[in-house]
Amino acid sequence: MKDYSEITPIESPVPADRQGAKRHYGVHPYFTRRPYNVVRDYILNYSSEHDRVLDPFGGSGVTAIEAFLENRIGMHNDINPLANFIATGIVDLHKGGLAEYEEALTYIEGECRYTLSRIQEYTDDQLENLKDSVNLPENIVLPRNADVKQYRDLFSLKQLLSLTILKQAIDSISNDPIRNGMLLAWSATLAKLNKTFLSAEGRAESRGGSSIFSIYRYKVAKQPIELPAWDTFHERVTNVIKAKVEIEQAIQLKRQTGGWFGGFESYSKDVEDLSSAFPNSIDYIFTDPPYGGHISYLDLSTLWNSWLGLSPSSATREKELIVGGELQLSENTYVERLGRSVHACVKMLKKDRWLSIVFQHWNPSYFEAILSSAAESGAELRAAVSQVGDPIWSMHKKKNNSVLAGEMILTFQNTGVIKRIKRNGHFDVLQAVKRILDETPNDHVFGEYLFNKIIIEAWNKSAIHSLDMPKEDFMDLLKRSGWHYDPDKHYWAKDKPQLELLMTSA
Ligand SMILES: C[S@@+](CC[C@H](N)C(=O)[O-])C[C@H]1O[C@@H](n2cnc3c(N)ncnc32)[C@H](O)[C@@H]1O
Repeated sequence: MKDYSEITPIESPVPADRQGAKRHYGVHPYFTRRPYNVVRDYILNYSSEHDRVLDPFGGSGVTAIEAFLENRIGMHNDINPLANFIATGIVDLHKGGLAEYEEALTYIEGECRYTLSRIQEYTDDQLENLKDSVNLPENIVLPRNADVKQYRDLFSLKQLLSLTILKQAIDSISNDPIRNGMLLAWSATLAKLNKTFLSAEGRAESRGGSSIFSIYRYKVAKQPIELPAWDTFHERVTNVIKAKVEIEQAIQLKRQTGGWFGGFESYSKDVEDLSSAFPNSIDYIFTDPPYGGHISYLDLSTLWNSWLGLSPSSATREKELIVGGELQLSENTYVERLGRSVHACVKMLKKDRWLSIVFQHWNPSYFEAILSSAAESGAELRAAVSQVGDPIWSMHKKKNNSVLAGEMILTFQNTGVIKRIKRNGHFDVLQAVKRILDETPNDHVFGEYLFNKIIIEAWNKSAIHSLDMPKEDFMDLLKRSGWHYDPDKHYWAKDKPQLELLMTSA
């Protein structure tokens, strides 16, 4: 067994594996998915086999599934039913035989393919007649910022009918793991067969994605496209089967090299409630909490939760850790809950065990909530690594102004030494920026790397509050230090000396 106090923290960024970026997680889209190889390296460094590894904000399940494949007990938790549906759906692909999946596909094809192709040719009257003979999803009201008012407005009638018919056939499969595998493929099809699907420019029509995952709202395409329903579903099932094979191979490889005994548990609690169920019982936590207000997970997951019959209760919705959303949750509540969630995480950890939190935001008070709460709960900050300059890791952040492009992984150890936080320190931001820029070996630097460094320096001086300045002032500070922003490369570059400029333009 590891001596947890002897663990050397990871101090440098782990490059995301581009080749394997999708892995089995590619079977279904979700928000802000983390590269599995980065998560796995953290799990391997900070925990041992048989350990309980938890992600309390688990999303699509990367942490718990990697732990499961690495002979740990992967504990997945998320307040969002869609997240749990995806995570459990992926992990359960190791159940059942390949032939059963193929048979199920043949069965669904027999039940639906002909009707789906006929639907494409139907007149409006014929479509209306068919509509009366099937059970369409409930026509609930969508979040206020959606382009359309009600659920069914998100689909053309052809899409709505095709998806309904496919789901009916899947629901009639009696073998649980096989039905769930097919339902996972159906749910991934739902992401493509609706009017929020935006085709990628200059590529095949079917390439692209839903605005739900890129713009983070229900934006309807100006010219929605009608992808062929059967082919789209068939492609999703093929992905699911590939993922199954991949997971089985990973397990098989473990079996051949020392044995495989991974476990997986899924919970759907608010993180604070989870901590009462697991005090002092977790060996490692790797997690990625929501970063303020840019993604309202529950609102955006309505497309899936509603049709899958998984809609969360209003009490659950109240507990979502975000700013805004349909419930207009306040920033103060967010900051308070963020701090309490970190406290809950430390409470769940055994003594000397480790906690890694992925985070990024321009607002220093969010960082302060995490850092103060950890210190006051008895966890010591042992590493702060910027995963910057990595498009896979950070792509989703580029669109929102208030969120920086790269994240920091803050790693703490539960030493049990409770610290009282002082907030009266002095920190000269300009001087620190100049020094960090001078020490930079390159002629460019990522803004988030700089900001992350500054945050930690200010924190160590009990002076995070001195960073409470508008983003524009911070940018101005960089410009005054002789640097300019390169919008194409998303980094700050050193200004060229006047003489060099003259020579390049000559
Ligand atoms: C940034 S995402 C995690 C993504 C994940 N790292 C992945 O690789 O898929 C944050 C997650 O926190 C969940 N969440 C929000 N409020 C929560 C709460 N109070 N308790 C538990 N989970 C919550 C959201 O539903 C969302 O899935």
